[in-house]
Amino acid sequence: MHLKPLHRVLVERRAPRHFSDPPPPDGVLQMILHAGLQAHNDYRVKPARFIVVRDSRKRARLRRAAMNQPCVGEAPVVLVAFGHPEQWREVLDDTLHDDAEHTNLNSRRLEPQRQRVTEYFERTPLRVWLHRHVMMSFTCMMLTAEALGWDTSLVERFDPAAVAAVLGLPADAEVVAMLAIGRAASAEMPAYDTTSLANLVYNERYGEPWQG
Ligand SMILES: Cc1cc2nc3c(=O)[nH]c(=O)nc-3n(C[C@H](O)[C@H](O)[C@H](O)COP(=O)(O)O)c2cc1C
Repeated sequence: MHLKPLHRVLVERRAPRHFSDPPPPDGVLQMILHAGLQAHNDYRVKPARFIVVRDSRKRARLRRAAMNQPCVGEAPVVLVAFGHPEQWREVLDDTLHDDAEHTNLNSRRLEPQRQRVTEYFERTPLRVWLHRHVMMSFTCMMLTAEALGWDTSLVERFDPAAVAAVLGLPADAEVVAMLAIGRAASAEMPAYDTTSLANLVYNERYGEPWQG
């Protein structure tokens, strides 16, 4: 299987506004999804979940829930990412026990560790934390799709309640983002970003432009 080199993936990826019909083969979709699992993950609590939507009527409903953005209805695959911000409470004990086994942690140190992690989660803005996890996974998926010759568009503007209704999500689920996957409808893609590094990156201190 031919894979585009990493640097080309990074600089050539563009988000098409319109997609054409052909869907990625199952093997490609599987690789894209698997890449999402490789993303970093805090305390091995995996808060993000994904629904693969291929049904054209469902995609049309998602498009309506997403301000009628064409990429959502046109792309043959739409991944919808969601999560339960409080889910860490259910899985923390299991992940700590797994961790302790892997690192040979003395069982007496398990309880203080549990308290530290619990305090951390209780003072963390969990919705922001969930969104970070989804974006890490989606970034891995986008770059994998691009490396395999497919295009993606990230969508964050939608009515979360309408999306939840289309997919039958439980009431406490937070819908985070969607990822449209397919082939760009035309070779006409948004222009490359020409912002220079010196406008965005500072050298050693604020105000000192990076001169790389
Ligand atoms: C956090 C985030 C949210 C976005 N939400 C949307 C969206 O709701 N609809 C959309 O068409 N594009 C969305 N985009 C895609 C950007 O608008 C797109 O990346 C931008 O047009 C730049 O194009 P490029 O990705 O080809 O460089 C989003 C991108 C990011 C990073």
